[in-house]
Amino acid sequence: MNKRVDLEQSAFWMPFTANRQFKKTPRLLARAEGMYYWTEDGRQLLDGQAGLWCVNAGHCRPKIVEAVRRQVGEMDFAPTFNMGHPIAFEFAERLAAVAPAGFSRVFFTNSGSESADTALKIALAYHRARGEGQRFRLIGRERGYHGVNFGGMAVGGIPSNRKVFGPGVAGVDHIRHTHDPARSAFSRGQPVHGADFAEELERLCAFHDPSTIAAVIVEPVAGSAGVLVPPKGYLERLREICTKHGILLIFDEVITGFGRLGQPFASHRFGVMPDLFTVAKGMTNGTVPMGAVFARDSVYEAFMQGPDGIELFHGYTYSGHPLGCAAGIATLETYEEEGLLTRGASLEKHFEDCLHALKGTRHVIDLRNIGLMGAVELEPRPSRPGARAYEAFLKCFEAGVLVRWTGDTLAFSPPLIVEKPQIERIFDTLRGAIAALA
Ligand SMILES: Cc1ncc(COP(=O)(O)O)c(C=O)c1O
Repeated sequence: MNKRVDLEQSAFWMPFTANRQFKKTPRLLARAEGMYYWTEDGRQLLDGQAGLWCVNAGHCRPKIVEAVRRQVGEMDFAPTFNMGHPIAFEFAERLAAVAPAGFSRVFFTNSGSESADTALKIALAYHRARGEGQRFRLIGRERGYHGVNFGGMAVGGIPSNRKVFGPGVAGVDHIRHTHDPARSAFSRGQPVHGADFAEELERLCAFHDPSTIAAVIVEPVAGSAGVLVPPKGYLERLREICTKHGILLIFDEVITGFGRLGQPFASHRFGVMPDLFTVAKGMTNGTVPMGAVFARDSVYEAFMQGPDGIELFHGYTYSGHPLGCAAGIATLETYEEEGLLTRGASLEKHFEDCLHALKGTRHVIDLRNIGLMGAVELEPRPSRPGARAYEAFLKCFEAGVLVRWTGDTLAFSPPLIVEKPQIERIFDTLRGAIAALA
């Protein structure tokens, strides 16, 4: 079969992809194991992006594969609306056990996008349950990414993800992003400058009246917009302002959760506790689509008042899906057995050194990192922004390394089982790729 001809006519409308370009010159993955993919034509690829920021324990881990296999044969699906199955309760308990203290409630979704929208709805309903229904505003941040559903899109701050989709959700505003190359380019870990960007939130509070604001949502480290690490003191200040005004703080931990920053969650890493936080991706090691919202006990308790009845009119057919729960429990066990939720801490310095060794390389205008997340930003070609990073991505692919490219930034987030020589190979390959660029 001539795949190329077939693909050009393919029914698959690919997400976040230049369909015509891709279908002319496809890159097809056929198999995966550990740190590697294999392409359809049998080439091995070192996975520098954990699939899509999700395969934290590496690919096709036997325990996870076996758990899913067993579960699908035992009970393929069961509803969680006014019914239950033990594995969903068990998974929620296990998740609460790895969460920061005080987050003992877990609402299941199926993706990061659904988690973002669920968290926003919980925030609105929480205030309403407490007699503060006037709090309807939601504050996001420029360059934030909270998925593609209407709520997450509204609070998100990546212009191309928003601009053609109409006016969206009412009552949304944004604080500015924290990217500040003039003061902070080539920072190792958290930039020293920029805590002051949090004062933007005070400005919006004054502008809108803080008693109308329900929630502020941020990624602790902005991932999709190119690994923007929070300046020292910034998240702490956001927390202070939210507490002062009775606003809920939501962390979107869809990327940072489950060990990416060398701690189980970003709130552990930064010592700043939100009121709600969202997860997905690494929750099941990417094996089965699943997400969740963690709620502080006090948020949950606010709903458990008044007469008996459904406390939150929200949920998905597949909330707590048995396959997701089976995959998730096996994933948590794999993380625990191999110490993966904190392994990143022991590799962070090496990862950082390898990344920052690219300083001085032609076209490189910034390097950013924290935990096992890193970004290399290239100077855009004057007439064609994004082209240089795309070409670097292609050259890495040809050289057997899979990296993620977004705009003129290349992003790195290897599975947390990565070994030091593999980290070196990722960045050496990138150096070669950049050197060959016009
Ligand atoms: C921080 C963040 N939130 C939400 C999402 C959306 O997740 P999903 O694609 O599973 O809907 C992503 C995806 O990359 C993400 O990085």
